[in-house]
Amino acid sequence: MRQKMVAGNWKMNGTSNSARDLVSGIKAGLNGQSPEVVVCPPFVYLPIVAAEIANSAITLSAQNMCDQDVGAYTGEISGPMLKDIGCEYVILAHSERRAMYGETDEVAASKYAAALKNNLKPIFCIGETLEEREQNITEDVIARQIDAIINTSGVASLANAVLAYEPVWAIGTGKTATPDQAQGVHAFIRNRIAGHDAGIAESLRILYGGSMNPANAADLIAQPDIDGGLIGGASLKAEDFLAIINAAG
Ligand code: PGA
Repeated sequence: MRQKMVAGNWKMNGTSNSARDLVSGIKAGLNGQSPEVVVCPPFVYLPIVAAEIANSAITLSAQNMCDQDVGAYTGEISGPMLKDIGCEYVILAHSERRAMYGETDEVAASKYAAALKNNLKPIFCIGETLEEREQNITEDVIARQIDAIINTSGVASLANAVLAYEPVWAIGTGKTATPDQAQGVHAFIRNRIAGHDAGIAESLRILYGGSMNPANAADLIAQPDIDGGLIGGASLKAEDFLAIINAAG
């Protein structure tokens, strides 16, 4: 049985006070629900959030990292640094990184390898743009994005990773993929990985992301190949995030 996961991607939002309030609100609302709960604050608020979640069931994730461990990389944050301050996960290859910061499949694969080397579990994002969906090349795009990490790190690496299917057209737009649409792509992803290793495919958690909210979460997460959510906007309010956790439980 795959444990469900609900991860909140706070993106570039908040202040030190609001970060502390948000995570303490989430902590106060947890009452033994079954999904794994992950919060992904901006880098500078990671230590504040780490202190708040000590001795709780919440785990910590960064939103990005450098593919190098140490040295002259001005402005970058490394895997060993994230590990040092208590991160267990790191979001990689988010579509905003791919689209706005030039992260290619090659860069994404290099960061993925660096995360695993540092015992950080990647939450590795994949997904097609609206244009790609309209051209009927969704599966080609997803396959290419998955192959980028399998070809460099091997399929066994997925035993220590989570995938997040996030159709780019659904992110921050209020347009969610229907449960059927999302399930179709999740099944494609799992089948493709099963072509390499059936056991890895069976145990791999594949999250859905893209305008998931308290109203649509239950139907999405009820799909057989959807193992939880990567939540942006709705993770910024403790009440909404908790409602999604409840929907997944
Ligand atoms: P959204 O973002 O829930 O605001 O659509 C999801 C994400 O980008 O991870």
